[in-house]
Amino acid sequence: MDSALEIFQPGLLDDRTVFITGGGSGIGRGICDMLGGLGAKIFIASRNPEKLGVAVEELSADGVTADFIIADVRDYEQVEAAIARCAERFGGIDILINNAAGNFNCPTAELSPNGWKTVIDIDLNGTFYCCKAAYPHLKASGHARIISITTTLARSGWPQAAHAGAAKAGIQSLTNALAVEWAPDGILVNSISPGPIAGTVGVDKLYIETGQEEVMISRVALRRFGKIDDIAGAVAFLCSPAGNYVTGTELVVDGGRQWTFASAS
Ligand code: NAP
Ligand code: COA
Repeated sequence: MDSALEIFQPGLLDDRTVFITGGGSGIGRGICDMLGGLGAKIFIASRNPEKLGVAVEELSADGVTADFIIADVRDYEQVEAAIARCAERFGGIDILINNAAGNFNCPTAELSPNGWKTVIDIDLNGTFYCCKAAYPHLKASGHARIISITTTLARSGWPQAAHAGAAKAGIQSLTNALAVEWAPDGILVNSISPGPIAGTVGVDKLYIETGQEEVMISRVALRRFGKIDDIAGAVAFLCSPAGNYVTGTELVVDGGRQWTFASAS
């Protein structure tokens, strides 16, 4: 068995629509392949039209109903318009995946106020904007899920990327609050915390380009980077009926890194 996709029943998500931010690359792209492969319609929002065009073309070639819109999650009006377009195009929204993020290594003493604000705006504010704009559609769904991609480094603190750690900690807190506030609306709200995932911008930029690959692998209990499919499979689990009683949870898929990771500095 090569892919987590094979353990799920074909057509599992046939009647579902997914709105995902940053689904044109990396982990988000893998989530599109997984949920689309299970029958869901996929609507992707992010900034780069070339990347999004290729993703939608490839998804369509695989038989997935997919579309995209250009939107910067830092702008509430763009998020609101993107959500409205998705609901109009596909008749509703059942699953919101908050995956878009920005990050870079930078000692906090050298981080500019705008550098800090940029990451908080993309990760934390963007996640809130998507949750808020999608809420009426999710409430109408009957199978609603919100899944935000975070990191355990939000809990430990993230030396050299304090901006991203703080933003993700905020997302976790928002997740827990919405899980309670929106439970009566039938909306299940969770996060997934990946460990370092091979073949992604995150790992390339933060660990490979900085020469930290070996040390980072040594900080994972399983002594290897994860696969995009590991995260996509966890998303599919939460979207499936097997996830019907899971809300307000951080699902950690990190090869045991949280118990071995001490510091990135
Ligand atoms: P990635 O390929 O760079 O994905 C980030 C996506 O966010 C991009 O597709 C980008 O698309 C989109 N994005 C960035 N800024 C945006 C904005 N202002 N508005 C709309 N979209 C925006 O990186 P990745 O490594 O797969 O990361 C995906 C998620 O996993 C992130 O939440 C990250 O924090 C999390 N994560 C990753 C790892 C890892 O090992 N890679 C580990 C833990 C957590 P555009 O350029 O088209 O805007
Ligand atoms: N070190 C220190 N500061 C940095 C930086 C770095 N490596 N990269 C950007 N910044 C600062 C900039 O200097 C700027 O601050 P300033 O105005 O005080 O100079 C601020 O951050 C915004 O940078 P800018 O390049 O204008 O932002 P952008 O909106 O074009 O891009 C980023 C956003 C910086 C997050 C960019 O890396 C990005 O688009 N990332 C998306 C992909 C990604 O990071 N994926 C990994 C997910 S884990």
